[in-house]
Amino acid sequence: MDVFEAIEKRASVRAFKPGDVPDEHLIKIVDAGRRAPSGYNHQPWEFIVVTDAEILGRLGQIQECIAQAGAAIAVVVTETKYWKEDAAAAIENMLLAATALGYGSLWVEGYVLAQEPLAKKILGVPEEPHLIAIIPIGLPAKKPRQAVKRQIESIMFWNQYGQRRDQAD
Ligand SMILES: Cc1cc2nc3c(=O)[nH]c(=O)nc-3n(C[C@H](O)[C@H](O)[C@H](O)COP(=O)(O)O)c2cc1C
Repeated sequence: MDVFEAIEKRASVRAFKPGDVPDEHLIKIVDAGRRAPSGYNHQPWEFIVVTDAEILGRLGQIQECIAQAGAAIAVVVTETKYWKEDAAAAIENMLLAATALGYGSLWVEGYVLAQEPLAKKILGVPEEPHLIAIIPIGLPAKKPRQAVKRQIESIMFWNQYGQRRDQAD
């Protein structure tokens, strides 16, 4: 699957059917994350790959579907100038890699930050780095539905804000 197909196919999956994710796929997904761009190339991230069903079950307190997933990747980030942007780039790379490998995935962020102490306790993360996101990965329970996206014509300008292509020549 090329990158454009993965971008088109990626969709947030919130229901998984049983099935493990092989280690080699999880390594490929994390490898995609670590290759992301980062401000000053600081690479302020670390990744906790969770495959243990009991731990996944406890992470289900943060968002239920994590408990059903075959695996999850927690993204731990040290504060740097661009830590949030860096984490976002790594997360998107991993979502696309998971899609390319045929899995469903989800960016769980808001609930993690709201319950960061709980998530950190479950995963043994020390106080200082942020646990910014958890990405459940698994086989989608049903065919993922594409979310409605804004039309390209309404958000894409040429040369000047608000200028359409036919006005730019
Ligand atoms: C920063 C960020 C945080 C998100 N947090 C959550 C979350 O905590 N739980 C959830 O179910 N979805 C979460 N999402 C997924 C969005 O709801 C989803 O991307 C959006 O509805 C568009 O759907 P799509 O991913 O299928 O294109 C998050 C997405 C982003 C980018």
